Amino acid sequence: MKTVLIIGGSSGIGKSLAYSILDSVNVISLSRTTADINHVNFKEHLCDVLNDDLPEIDTIDALVYCPGSINLKPITRLKQEDFLNDFSINILGAVRVIQQYLSVLKNSSTANILMFSSVATKLGMPFHASVAASKGAVEGLVKSLAAELAPVVRVNAIAPTLTDTNLASKLLRNDRLKEMSAERHPLKNYLQPEEVAEMASFIISEKAKSLSGQIFEMDYGIVNLKV
Ligand SMILES: NC(=O)c1ccc[n+]([C@@H]2O[C@H](COP(=O)([O-])OP(=O)(O)OC[C@H]3O[C@@H](n4cnc5c(N)ncnc54)[C@H](OP(=O)(O)O)[C@@H]3O)[C@@H](O)[C@H]2O)c1
Repeated sequence: MKTVLIIGGSSGIGKSLAYSILDSVNVISLSRTTADINHVNFKEHLCDVLNDDLPEIDTIDALVYCPGSINLKPITRLKQEDFLNDFSINILGAVRVIQQYLSVLKNSSTANILMFSSVATKLGMPFHASVAASKGAVEGLVKSLAAELAPVVRVNAIAPTLTDTNLASKLLRNDRLKEMSAERHPLKNYLQPEEVAEMASFIISEKAKSLSGQIFEMDYGIVNLKV
């Protein structure tokens, strides 16, 4: 049975992904709080990937890095610290995890890494300067590593639009905001974590063995359609 390491399996997209694949793969989750998942194929380690020692893991076929940020402020209110925090969680945490587990991952015949960008790299939106800068860096990291690690490790990212998770709870905190958020998208909807998990599950599987160095937009049309 394959083993998928999910950084951030305790909530949102990572937790949905864990649920969707648990019957057929072993899932190991690293997060600061428990996922509260009771399944024979599920293990977790509680740790902060930015500051704590990372646990030894001896088999990994896919590594999925879910931590991210939505820190929206006008540029006049964004401090250097905001940019550094966003860069830390989106990039430095991922780099730390990849460096720790790359040699184990490379032992797998189906090795791959999946990260998360955002529609904010392609669609200019007010107040997104810090998060868009960090997610742009995620896309650069994905492209570069995909080339460097080919043909042994595939590396991809999903760039979702607004997704109904804890991270986006302020933006979807009432029915009016939910309606407005759906209305902004040409396909009149925003994402549920299960939809992103479905895509993630495909990208990390052998069915996607031809895909590397790619950024998959899941955008309900907001980036790609003008209607
Ligand atoms: N939600 C959206 O609207 C949206 C839109 C575009 C892009 N994205 C991107 O999609 C990805 C997943 O987002 P999401 O909405 O599922 O986020 P989420 O609900 O906040 O989940 C993030 C996961 O990462 C874990 N995590 C965060 N910091 C950590 C740390 N320092 N050490 C260990 N684990 C940590 C969290 O667990 P603990 O808190 O327990 O540590 C949680 O399990 C992110 O990269 C996000 O930027 C999301």
